[in-house]
Amino acid sequence: MATAFSEEISSLLTVKQPWQKSSDKTIRIGVVGGGFGLAFHWHEHPNCKVEAVSDLLPERRKRLQGKYKCDKAYESLEELVKDPAIEAVAVFTPAPDHARHVILCMEHGKHVISACPACITLEEAQKMKETKERTGLRYMNAETSYFRKETIAVRELLRQGILGEILYCEAEYYHLGIGRTSHELSWRDGKKTWRCGYPPMLYPTHSTAFLVGTTRERLTKVSCIGTGDPNEPALKDNVYGNTFLNGMAMFLTDRGHPFRCNVAWDVFADGERAQWFSNNGAVYSENSAGQPFTIRLKNETISTLPDFWDMLPETMRYDSGHGGSHPFLTNEFIMALVEEREPAIDLYESLAFCVPGIVAHESAKKDGEQLPIPQFEKKG
Ligand SMILES: NC(=O)c1ccc[n+]([C@@H]2O[C@H](COP(=O)([O-])OP(=O)(O)OC[C@H]3O[C@@H](n4cnc5c(N)ncnc54)[C@H](O)[C@@H]3O)[C@@H](O)[C@H]2O)c1
Repeated sequence: MATAFSEEISSLLTVKQPWQKSSDKTIRIGVVGGGFGLAFHWHEHPNCKVEAVSDLLPERRKRLQGKYKCDKAYESLEELVKDPAIEAVAVFTPAPDHARHVILCMEHGKHVISACPACITLEEAQKMKETKERTGLRYMNAETSYFRKETIAVRELLRQGILGEILYCEAEYYHLGIGRTSHELSWRDGKKTWRCGYPPMLYPTHSTAFLVGTTRERLTKVSCIGTGDPNEPALKDNVYGNTFLNGMAMFLTDRGHPFRCNVAWDVFADGERAQWFSNNGAVYSENSAGQPFTIRLKNETISTLPDFWDMLPETMRYDSGHGGSHPFLTNEFIMALVEEREPAIDLYESLAFCVPGIVAHESAKKDGEQLPIPQFEKKG
């Protein structure tokens, strides 16, 4: 039976050191992409100034300028990267462009945060790694599942030894109808967008981050079943040659644990969620059928979560979407640059989120054949 929030767990999960300004440095950022790129908190962070914005579409440029209170706007990322006043770029362009855009920013000497996924081919992963290591610049992926409240809680329960070892995890991202020709996001100005026919397993990070982003283990092998719809026009003609609306994958981790991971555009469910199991406890995200958030330990069941807002500057302590993750992503990137350290979701973690999906998609094309997953790790 669910009990009130346990005093003991409550105090263990309480933020011990609320965020405090520790430096007068200001990071000058350029923000590119006026769709999801409007959802962040750059202008509210005490150590950040939005130096310039960009979108190919004039009305989206205007929206970015209004949101981030910024006078300077460029007609494209390619123009913005030439601005010497900008030291970091937030890349919120379409998913298939991320690797190219991130590398372009780094070649111009800028640190980069990009939307998920970091890349969609193994060749791009290798090129991003080479560019990061050659330039010494910092990259972070803005994967929202990493900073959902339940993910922060699981990291903390693991760090304090309360959950023990995660032996099995199930994670899923469901978004009914996206990718189909009939979906509104498949079209802009009478032309197909990048979302039309987009392969589900090339968007794995909302799911994989729940495991990789808590235990930091790596996914080493995968067998994936892909399913489609023979009557869906998007699957007959898309730039990806994709025939799937759903991908259901079984991974093996480098610690010998199984991980069931779904990304589906065609099942009647929604949201990004996971459940983590050790042999003395389990944590469940809420789901669209009413499962509440739950931490189930041997002697108690807890169904409320701390909000963790104290980890953030006061101006940013509010939920702007995706489980309240946007201000945490904003703060982590800016503080990594201020403190001259790698961000929590550095390039290697970011590739460990997305590369397994690239291989899962290949496995689905081979009828579920189990395939090894290449690793992109820091040297030495
Ligand atoms: N929960 C999440 O993490 C989450 C949610 C939504 C979207 N996303 C990701 O965010 C990214 C953007 O998604 P979206 O829905 O806003 O897509 P979108 O296609 O609506 O917006 C992308 C924008 O980038 C602009 N753009 C493209 N190339 C450019 C260039 N060279 N210079 C300047 N601007 C350029 C386009 O004009 C467009 O306005 C995607 O990668 C998506 O996967 C993540």
